[in-house]
Amino acid sequence: MIGTGYVGLTTGVCFAHLGHHVICQDIDEKKIQKLKNNENVIYEPDLDAFIHNGLKSGNLEFTHDMAKAVQQSDIIFICVNTPPKPDGHADLKYVEQVARDIAKHMNGYKVIIDKSTVPIRTAEKVKETINKYSKGDFKFDIVSNPEFLREGHAVYDILHPNRIVIGVENARSRDMMLELYTSFQNTPIKITSIKSAELIKHGANTFLATKISFANLIAEVCESAGANAKEVLEAIGLDERIGKYFLNPGIGFGGSCFPKDIKAFKKTLEIFGINHSLIDSIEDINNRAVDRFIKKIEKELWVLDGKRIAVLGLAFKPNTDDIRNSPAIKIIDALKKEGAKICAHDPKAMEKAKEIFNDIDYADNFYECVRGCDALVLCTEWDEYKKIDFNELKKLLITPIIFDGRNIIDKKIASDNGFVYFGIGG
Ligand SMILES: NC(=O)c1ccc[n+]([C@@H]2O[C@H](COP(=O)([O-])OP(=O)(O)OC[C@H]3O[C@@H](n4cnc5c(N)ncnc54)[C@H](O)[C@@H]3O)[C@@H](O)[C@H]2O)c1
Repeated sequence: MIGTGYVGLTTGVCFAHLGHHVICQDIDEKKIQKLKNNENVIYEPDLDAFIHNGLKSGNLEFTHDMAKAVQQSDIIFICVNTPPKPDGHADLKYVEQVARDIAKHMNGYKVIIDKSTVPIRTAEKVKETINKYSKGDFKFDIVSNPEFLREGHAVYDILHPNRIVIGVENARSRDMMLELYTSFQNTPIKITSIKSAELIKHGANTFLATKISFANLIAEVCESAGANAKEVLEAIGLDERIGKYFLNPGIGFGGSCFPKDIKAFKKTLEIFGINHSLIDSIEDINNRAVDRFIKKIEKELWVLDGKRIAVLGLAFKPNTDDIRNSPAIKIIDALKKEGAKICAHDPKAMEKAKEIFNDIDYADNFYECVRGCDALVLCTEWDEYKKIDFNELKKLLITPIIFDGRNIIDKKIASDNGFVYFGIGG
């Protein structure tokens, strides 16, 4: 695994668990040192135990040494980050660097797999780069094997994928990939061309983002016209052709994938001269979702200057410590700008949040977080927030006001308990 982040680390430990010998490499020496010492670097359910077991069995190794990682492997996964450039294009400089490093250290036939999310035709460029920088005459094949894991469920998703997509250009690499995935007998394995595999990942993420934005569009209509988005969307989702998943209105999608992947896909459409107004609208609705929520808070609390606000949830979604593009960050920024004092809580993401906000308070538990606050703003749907004790909450808040950005609290129960409640979508 070249790149030991959310994808490389979780994929690596899972392959080690399945009996393969895995070397996880990264340029970040500190990260590698921690992992070598059996210290985890990200939060994912079950990951600690998998790292521990992998190290103990000897199936899992961590290294900073690229030559070792390349030379001792038959199959090399590229799992580095592909962040957006200012114009939305995927920045492929890390992928390019890895391709050059692989070329430098090749010592025999390798299957080189792009697992990072990349625009269509990236594999061609990786192949060209390896050919250009390779010193010997070593054969290799490029494969695209996009990753569909959900952060917060990464280990589960890798071991129980709903499909495996393998984009190949010849039988040799296809057979090696099928051997690698041999334990996944009950999973549909889709063998495609490399270009199709690259497009499948961007297409899937764009579709999921579309569903979320569609739900938020319905929420906007409901709020304006007095309908209830939960009722509307539940009924829409009962149609099998539509499905109920990802039809929840809220403060929009964030994270390291959807925002950047739809931007990159938009650029791909632009390159091919294809209209991308659909994607413009998805982004627009997503931005409006969080802006409308901030406006609700500002309208209800009137003057924010000097008010203390409890923000529950910092991660972009539950069961992860990942705060990249989390709507909570935009919300905290906006409230701080108006002079509000923030006290934040998140079960797992506070350490990462402290790297962004060192001028807000953090509380060890959510009841401490709301103590003495003028309102509670809920940004992430962690399970523990669903079990809020309203009596306790009422004693701790100065005024019983809840802004629920994820619709996890029942509006009627909140009102019956004397709270002024604002959810999403009426
Ligand atoms: N996070 C997810 O949920 C998810 C899901 C599916 C696909 N993806 C895609 O997978 C890719 C990786 O995502 P991530 O979230 O794991 O990123 P990440 O930022 O968590 O990890 C990337 C790792 O690559 C390392 N790296 C960068 N350049 C390197 C180099 N030259 N040599 C060795 N290591 C290098 C970084 O130090 C970092 O540890 C991205 O393209 C992303 O879009 C992510």
